[in-house]
Amino acid sequence: MKIRSVPFIAMGGLYEQDDLEAVTRVTTAAMQESGNFFPLPEENDFQNALARHEGAKKAIAVNACGTALDCCMMALGIGAGDEVITTPMTFVCTAGTAIAQGARAVFADIDPVTLNLDPAQVRAKITPRTKAILPVHFGGLPCDLDAFDRITEETGVPVIYDAAHAVGARYKGQPIGGRGKASCHSFQSNKNMTCLGEGGAVTTDDEAFAEQVRQLKTFGYVYGSSGVRVVSIGFNYRMTKAQYAVGLTQLAKIDRVIQARQERMVRLNELLVGVEEVLLPVGHGPGHGSHLHVIRLDTDRVGFSTPAFVAHLKDKYQVGTAKHYPAVWGWEALQKLGYTGEGCPVAAKVCEQVVSTPVFPRTTEEDLQYIAWAIKQTIVELKKQ
Ligand SMILES: Cc1ncc(COP(=O)(O)O)c(C=O)c1O
Repeated sequence: MKIRSVPFIAMGGLYEQDDLEAVTRVTTAAMQESGNFFPLPEENDFQNALARHEGAKKAIAVNACGTALDCCMMALGIGAGDEVITTPMTFVCTAGTAIAQGARAVFADIDPVTLNLDPAQVRAKITPRTKAILPVHFGGLPCDLDAFDRITEETGVPVIYDAAHAVGARYKGQPIGGRGKASCHSFQSNKNMTCLGEGGAVTTDDEAFAEQVRQLKTFGYVYGSSGVRVVSIGFNYRMTKAQYAVGLTQLAKIDRVIQARQERMVRLNELLVGVEEVLLPVGHGPGHGSHLHVIRLDTDRVGFSTPAFVAHLKDKYQVGTAKHYPAVWGWEALQKLGYTGEGCPVAAKVCEQVVSTPVFPRTTEEDLQYIAWAIKQTIVELKKQ
């Protein structure tokens, strides 16, 4: 095949004319004499639409998923002496949100097939100090929600889902935003929908919890007939009017974006069937949030390293990849705090094997065939070295 460039891009969704028009509309309105950039009514409209889409009673939009997670930790009152059980195979902020509140992140191992946090491993790590469980729907594949519900029923420990990859995902055919205590979503640029580059939300069926998050987001304000009261200590974690407006246009197309991603990820799996050096991701197709397509190099079998594989793909074939994720305990900041991979052998190995492929809503059939061919060529060529 002829060499072509297939980069790993930083735009996970589709940014189109309707998004541009939404920005233009709110900006044009702000140019009028009585105009402003106050968030209503777009903020409420976006939150209501998101709650409906995610099957939750409430959605509170904030400026990032990291902020959504922080709000949940604060609303649960998590602090020094507490433990929060989470996955080591995630973006740093999942563990960081617990650590930032003064708690200890406790890593439980992942399931070697789904790469999601293994509920049995979580159970084994619960102590009287455990105040929350923080699983990630890795790549958009929903966790075993029923198993986590049972853990909460039996132990009382609430589950906050990091749903940064999973807007629009379904579990047993149903939306998942109302499951557990709450779910935290990301609308950052890489994600399947974006609110002009940043954004996040908490979705929940617990209305009292939603109200706590809402106050944290907006200076502890409560609005009444006699004006504003400050009833708790809060912050300003709002998005802007333009971001809420674009959130609405992005949400209106998210199912189309997810379907486009799903089809391409299923197709790439098909093209890689039979390549025994590569372990293919499971669960792709309907219900999968389809944020990431993560293959694993079978490092026991191939005799070369994942970095060598990635470098060859890029240097010789111009196929870009990303790594989701290096093990969280390995980051300098966590090393300084004494975190290790003890008790997580599956994650330790998987984190050395993962390669995210460059699949996006506009990836073409030719691109997919090229990616699969380049992967196969790379394996053959590195095996010879
Ligand atoms: C699993 C996970 N959690 C949380 C975040 C943080 O999201 P945000 O950038 O919206 O704060 C990310 C972002 O990449 C993520 O991948």
